Amino acid sequence: MQTKFFKIGSNNDDENIRCVGEILKSGGLVGIPTETVYGLAANALDENAVAKIFRAKGRPQDNPLIVHIADFEDIYKLAKDVPSDAVLLANKFWPGPLTIILKSRDIVPKSVSAGLDTVAIRMPSHPVARQIIRSAGVPLAAPSANISGMPSPTTAQHVMDDLNGKIDAVVDGGECSVGLESTVITLCKSPPKLLRPGKITPQELISVLGELDVDSSVLDKLPDNITPSSPGMKYKHYSPKANVIIIRGELENFIKYVNDNKKSGVMALCFDGEQKDMPVASLCFGQKSSATQQAHNLFNALREIDSLGANTVYVRCPKSDGIGLAVFNRLLRAAEFEVIDV
Ligand code: TXA
Ligand code: MG
Repeated sequence: MQTKFFKIGSNNDDENIRCVGEILKSGGLVGIPTETVYGLAANALDENAVAKIFRAKGRPQDNPLIVHIADFEDIYKLAKDVPSDAVLLANKFWPGPLTIILKSRDIVPKSVSAGLDTVAIRMPSHPVARQIIRSAGVPLAAPSANISGMPSPTTAQHVMDDLNGKIDAVVDGGECSVGLESTVITLCKSPPKLLRPGKITPQELISVLGELDVDSSVLDKLPDNITPSSPGMKYKHYSPKANVIIIRGELENFIKYVNDNKKSGVMALCFDGEQKDMPVASLCFGQKSSATQQAHNLFNALREIDSLGANTVYVRCPKSDGIGLAVFNRLLRAAEFEVIDV
C-alpha cells in the first residue's frame, strides 16, 4: 500500500485534516502527532479497523489500546462509571499526557480492551490530534506508531521508518514536545494506581487524589507467573537493536567502566557536556539536571544508536524522581532491567 504523507502547516491544512478524517471513518490507519509520541490511529469503535492496528505493529493481542477523545463529554460514551476523581484529574490535566483507566461500556470492542472490562482514555493536548479526532467524528484507538518493541516514534519520519507501506497515511505535525508516552493511572483500584509513569508525575497526581499506589512493574521486572495490571508492562519495550546497559554511578566511574569494556560497536549515551570525556563514540540525551530534556530526547537517541550500527550502548543512569521516573522506567525496559552499579 502507498502511505500518504500529509504535512501540517500549509494552506491545505483544513482539506488535509478532512481527508484524514475520511480515511479514519472508512476504517483506515493513520499515524498522527500527539504531544507525547506519534500514535497509530483507527476508529476505536470499529473492530476491523482496530484489528489492523495489531497487524501493522505486530502487537500482541493481549495488550490493550488507549482510546483518544477530543471532548470531555465523550468519556461518558466509553466509560460505564465516571467517578469524581476522574473529573478532578481531567479538569487538571486534560487535554494533556494523562491516560485514565475506567470501567468500560459494551460499545468498546473487546480487542481495544484486550478482553479486560476496563478502557484507557486520554484527551491529547496536541491541537492537530484533536482536530483529527473531531474530523473522524469517532474516538480513536491509538498505540504508539512504532513496530512493537521498538522505541516509540517522536517524529513523522520515525513513523515512516517503521510503518511506510503498511498504513494508509501519516500526518506530520512536527516533533513531539514531551517525547515519552502518557502517564497511565487506573481508577478501578482503590487507592488509584499508577501503571506507567510519564510527564504528569506521581506528586502531581497525589496533589489531586490525596493518595496513589505505584504498580510494582514501574521499577521492577515482573516475575513470569504474575498477571500484570497493565499488560504492556510485561513486554520488552523501547529497545533499539543494540544491547542497552544502564551504568549507575559517578561520571568518572562510568568513564572507567566504558574504557575497561570498550571494543568495536560499543557506544555511550551520556548527558550534555560529557561527550568530550567519553572513551568511545557517544550521543547525549539532555542535561543531567533536566529530566524534561532527557524525556524529549531519549527515544530519538535510541533510534540514532541503531542507525550508527552500535551493538552495545552504555547509558548514564538518570535520576528517578519527578519526570525522571518516566525516563528511568523506559530505559529500564530498553535495557531489560540490566543495571550495573559502579
Ligand atoms: O502517550 C500515549 O499514551 C501514546 C499516544 C499515542 O497517545 N499511546 C501509547 O499507547 O503509548 P501504547 O499502546 O503504546 O501504550 C498503552 C499502554 C500499554 O502499556 C497498555 O498495556 C496500557 O496502556 N493499557 C491500555 N489499556 C489498558 C487497560 N484497560 N488496563 C490496563 N492497561 C491498559
Ligand atoms: Mg507503545
